[in-house]
Amino acid sequence: MTCALVVLAAGSGTRMQSGLPKVLHKIGNAPLLEHALASGRSLEPSRILVVIGHGAAEVGEALDIMAPEAETVVQTEQLGTAHAVRAAETALANFEGDVFVLYGDTPFILPKTLAAMQAERAAGADVVVLGFEAANPGRYGRLIRAIDGSLDRIVEYKDATPEEQAVTLCNSGVKSVSRELMFSLLADVINDNAKGEYYLTDIVGLARARGLRASVVVCDEEETLGCDSRADLASAETIFQARQRAAALENGVTLQDPNTTYFSFDTHLGRDVTVEPFVYFGPGVTVESGATVKAFSHLADTHIGAKASVGPHVRMRGNTDVGAEAKIGNFVETKNAQLARGVKAGHLSYLGDTAIGQATNIGAGTITCNYDGELKHRTDIGERVFVGSNSALVAPVTLSDGAVVAAGSTITDDVGPDELALARGKQTNKSGAARIMERVRQLTAKKD
Ligand code: UD1
Repeated sequence: MTCALVVLAAGSGTRMQSGLPKVLHKIGNAPLLEHALASGRSLEPSRILVVIGHGAAEVGEALDIMAPEAETVVQTEQLGTAHAVRAAETALANFEGDVFVLYGDTPFILPKTLAAMQAERAAGADVVVLGFEAANPGRYGRLIRAIDGSLDRIVEYKDATPEEQAVTLCNSGVKSVSRELMFSLLADVINDNAKGEYYLTDIVGLARARGLRASVVVCDEEETLGCDSRADLASAETIFQARQRAAALENGVTLQDPNTTYFSFDTHLGRDVTVEPFVYFGPGVTVESGATVKAFSHLADTHIGAKASVGPHVRMRGNTDVGAEAKIGNFVETKNAQLARGVKAGHLSYLGDTAIGQATNIGAGTITCNYDGELKHRTDIGERVFVGSNSALVAPVTLSDGAVVAAGSTITDDVGPDELALARGKQTNKSGAARIMERVRQLTAKKD
């Protein structure tokens, strides 16, 4: 059955105390909305509609980047969840299929849970609601079952009797109904309730009154965690990190101290990758099989080739590509750097706006001087080049294959194939002049 996602993201998120719309707050370096969309995409929806309102312009811009295929509909006034879904009615007028309602601030619904809801629809339920057993049901809507175990109605906390409030099976908000029935039921929803809102939850009772069947799929409470406050966001981050770590271990990655590895939404670690303690993977990192990321490294927008080793204490960013079997060591920073197979840069370097060929060795303290205060310039380094320690490569500059740069050089001109470049002050040794030190010692002794 084809389906359309309707993702509710118009709410204000007042408790977040933020200028940023709630759904754009991040966990694992990706907006909550992106996580919600990723869950929903597992259904392979033919349409994705996001209902926006508060911060519509910002959310719309973010969607252009993270989900260009998504359509947005604006709910100008937030009059409740039923009202929010109705905002998508015109856009979906000719759609044949099911509508799945998700919340943009609920990042953890698992694909298997949505698949179970789809199966329930296929088995004949007209309205399917995702519920969970709440440890602390608080203000959630309560799911009231009929005697036959199907769903009779949803009662919002403020409208519930004490007996209904004692029910612990709660409404996650996720629902699935055919497009036609959804909007037909929504047309009957009124706002005669404690909050004076149009409740999406009312569609269950309305469907029952028409002799239709509603049912519940139950998932773990963790999946339904929404983010209304910074505290919720922090809890969500903890859950996200725990999930990513568990998945990495499951996929054959060694995390020497899992609790100190920070993952982003799109981190990919291959089999037999080893990650030492305290490593931060920012967005856009892929590490191929057998590579090692040593302790205290910070990587973003970086690809590490198979069996390469980086760190400890590397900072890699801005389109870094480290070739297979390369070795990049302590305190090396890279930015827009393509390092070929077997490149070595063992210590204390800045390699920016550069391409470095196979088997080249970059000595300790080498700096690519890529910025002239106005513009960035490239440093192109060929294969089998040897750059001596403490060299400054003033870009734009090219070191051709087989070139050697003497330690301590400041290179401003290109170096040809197999040429040796020496560019440093010439050393002079003055016979006996070191005796000046004796005089210094005498003076110091007098003072003491
Ligand atoms: C809703 C449910 C409640 C459920 C709870 C789970 C209703 C009436 N109640 O509670 O049963 O237990 O979710 O979290 O549906 N939104 C809009 N426009 C609106 C109102 C809300 O887009 O006019 C969006 C919000 O941005 C949010 C989602 O809908 O993403 C849920 O809204 P929220 O106010 O958090 O939920 P409640 O109505 O309190």
